[in-house]
Amino acid sequence: MKVLVVGNGGREHALAWKLLQSKQIEQVVCAPGNGGTAGIKGCQNLPLAVDDFEGISQFALDEGISLILVGPEVPLAKGITDYLNSKGLKVFGPTRAGAQIEASKAWAKALMQEAGIPTAQAAVFTEAAAAKSYVKAQGAPIVVKADGLAAGKGVIVAETVEQAQAAIDAMFGGEFGSAGKFVVIEEYLTGEEVSVLALTDGLTIRPLQPAQDHKRIGEGDTGENTGGMGAYAPAPIATPEVMARIQKEVLEKAIAALKAKGIDYRGVLYAGLMMSPQGDFKVLEFNCRFGDPETQVVLPLLETPLEELILACVEQRLAQMPPIAWKQGAAVTVVAASGGYPGAYEKGKVVTGIEQAEALGTTVFHAGTLNQEQLLTDGGRVLNVTAVGETFDQALAQAYAGIQCIHFEGMYYRRDIGHRVR
Ligand code: AMP
Ligand code: GLY
Repeated sequence: MKVLVVGNGGREHALAWKLLQSKQIEQVVCAPGNGGTAGIKGCQNLPLAVDDFEGISQFALDEGISLILVGPEVPLAKGITDYLNSKGLKVFGPTRAGAQIEASKAWAKALMQEAGIPTAQAAVFTEAAAAKSYVKAQGAPIVVKADGLAAGKGVIVAETVEQAQAAIDAMFGGEFGSAGKFVVIEEYLTGEEVSVLALTDGLTIRPLQPAQDHKRIGEGDTGENTGGMGAYAPAPIATPEVMARIQKEVLEKAIAALKAKGIDYRGVLYAGLMMSPQGDFKVLEFNCRFGDPETQVVLPLLETPLEELILACVEQRLAQMPPIAWKQGAAVTVVAASGGYPGAYEKGKVVTGIEQAEALGTTVFHAGTLNQEQLLTDGGRVLNVTAVGETFDQALAQAYAGIQCIHFEGMYYRRDIGHRVR
């Protein structure tokens, strides 16, 4: 079977790597892929943009691609699944209507409220004056969110009313383009975050192992938000009892609410939750796709062949699948980032040491690299050095031993991934 993976990050490298572990998979094509996917045996890059629906469709039809997995949210929100389905292709990832759960925070909030899913209190605004007076009445800290997709930058956790008001002005002033036409203002929640990625065929929903991402650039979870600086799975805070509650109170309710709207949602539903120390939780956001870098720690633990699960979702027979099988132990990934990220950074630095890191037993997923005779940096997040161990401590030690082998000019990584486990 030939599979096409849409996207070019560490998540897509991990998807291609996992798929190729199965004998059923002859070939994986990544559109456009990166320096890492180019180097996997059985994998080929296709230089097409993720929103070149026509090009992707033509290639898939010409080359007999049996299944298309869409990594990032942007093509999903633009309707890649609707387009490819209309050409008779099998796609894992929700339609444009389903992707609204990530592409519009106001839409997702309304869905949660209708379905009775626990979430932070919030109000939606269409102009600055009303939003500002609401913030003034509520006080700080408070969270200001641009409604639409903003590559992880549309959420401002404001410590003061002034900061919140400046964020409101920036959003209505067009700083986030059309993403800021609506602004969601939300109660500030404290606690520990957990990412629950679940597979669904629109009727049945099966969670994967819970993961924890580290979104801030700085150690101790300080500084600016990033796409994610490291992750581990399983996250012990999401105990089996908590996961059973998340299944009932979040995932099943969300799928039922989508179905009630006539949305046949087949793909990943990712719930980002804030957990209180008492074990209660509230949903911070839904995403319509695999998390990055959560995927890089969840897939190495998965024993059930990935394509079997994905096909069961696409063909709407997930209820008939046996329980998902998992490796014992834990996985950790540490992100090697370009100096300056998430602000301005330089690209094109020579990367060395990956072989040495892998000789220690790690798997190095490429997030932003380019293979041009030499391996060069090509993004803010460059590599995800990933290790699986019988225990969390073993996985952590191995991931850090691996990243110490890697070098490129200006490389930065957090030294405290997993600090909440201790
Ligand atoms: P989101 O894209 O909605 O997940 O927001 C990005 C990050 O902002 C989350 O991972 C949290 O760290 C933080 N955040 C979002 N909403 C809240 C909230 N209501 N209270 C506290 N922090 C939040
Ligand atoms: N790791 C956060 C995300 O994928 O949105």
